[in-house]
Amino acid sequence: MTSSFDLAQRLQQRRQQQLYRQRRLLGSAQGAQVRVDGRDCLAFCNNDYLGLANHPYLAEAMAKAARQYGVGSGASHLVLGHSELHHQLEEALARFCQRPRALLFSTGYMANLGTLTALLDKQGAVFEDRLNHASLLDGGLLSGARFQRYLHNDVASLRQRLASSEASAKLVVTDGVFSMDGDIAPLPQLAEACQQAGAWLMVDDAHGFGVLGEQGYGCLEHFALNHQQVPILMGTLGKALGTAGAFVAGSEELIEALIQFARPYIYTTAMPPAVAAATLASLQLVQQESWRRQHLQQLIRWFSQQALAEGLPLMPSSTPIQPLLVGEAERALALSESLWQKGMLVTAIRPPTVPAGSARLRITLSAAHSQADVEHLLDALLQSWREVQGG
Ligand SMILES: Cc1ncc(COP(=O)(O)O)c(C=O)c1O
Repeated sequence: MTSSFDLAQRLQQRRQQQLYRQRRLLGSAQGAQVRVDGRDCLAFCNNDYLGLANHPYLAEAMAKAARQYGVGSGASHLVLGHSELHHQLEEALARFCQRPRALLFSTGYMANLGTLTALLDKQGAVFEDRLNHASLLDGGLLSGARFQRYLHNDVASLRQRLASSEASAKLVVTDGVFSMDGDIAPLPQLAEACQQAGAWLMVDDAHGFGVLGEQGYGCLEHFALNHQQVPILMGTLGKALGTAGAFVAGSEELIEALIQFARPYIYTTAMPPAVAAATLASLQLVQQESWRRQHLQQLIRWFSQQALAEGLPLMPSSTPIQPLLVGEAERALALSESLWQKGMLVTAIRPPTVPAGSARLRITLSAAHSQADVEHLLDALLQSWREVQGG
């Protein structure tokens, strides 16, 4: 019997377009050196920016909490899953972000979906940077609000759309650091445009939190922006903090509204309390060990200067995300494969994750890397680039 879903045809089409995705098998903890598909290699594609995902202090905190609180939370937050450890973490995150309150979500995807759908309905309007993360775009669409995208990091394009909107509730949403591009949103200018138009600004700081600012508080510390300028801050815990989950921080009213109305908060099992315990430990290290951010910044500066001086088409970025723009998906795959043959793992990012014709290698640097690791990467990249150009 033939299926009316046409799965075979769709899969075949993906293969033909060089867009088929396959998972590699990680056989070690996360870090600079990993074991992948049975081979040891140097990895430049995780989001463990501070090298905390395999830190013994976090592992010990998690193990200790698991012995005391068990491994599963056993229920949603609103039933019986909200443990003392979750609560302590929410309080610690609120203090760190200098906001009245914070609310934990099981993933960043759910935090974005939950926040946007809880705040917006058909009467509202949402304005999103066109390169926002999929979870922000999906949340905006699902909310039923009037949905508009503005040009990437283009404040004039946003202002124009805000001016022509008659919606009673307007929400502007942006990545803080763009996940596939590594550039930072012009938050002071976006905040000003929002204040003038009576709109709220929501920043998803998945890739800035822990990394940017002297304390690691992220994009808002980087630009010295306060709670009034950015009423909604979302951050993830599975990237620089090395654990899993996410949070939204803001006013008392915002957090209470999310507890009442955010369906991805209400209708799901709470993260295991041991993950909250590991994140509390991680938050301590983020604050105490500023050398991680300093080392990372040195690696970023060295790598971007050298790569550009050698003529590699790095995209402009001062963050750990250092994308190398390739263009065609097929060439990006060939480059990634050539690096793999040299013992380096850097994934090719292709459409639909990025716009057609802008396939790239998403190179990420981490405080776990040494200067020598990054020098190896640069040598390998230069060789592979020549090979793929010549081929
Ligand atoms: C900008 C951004 N927001 C949200 C998410 C989703 O976070 P999570 O992986 O915790 O679901 C990601 C990446 O995963 C991201 O890059």
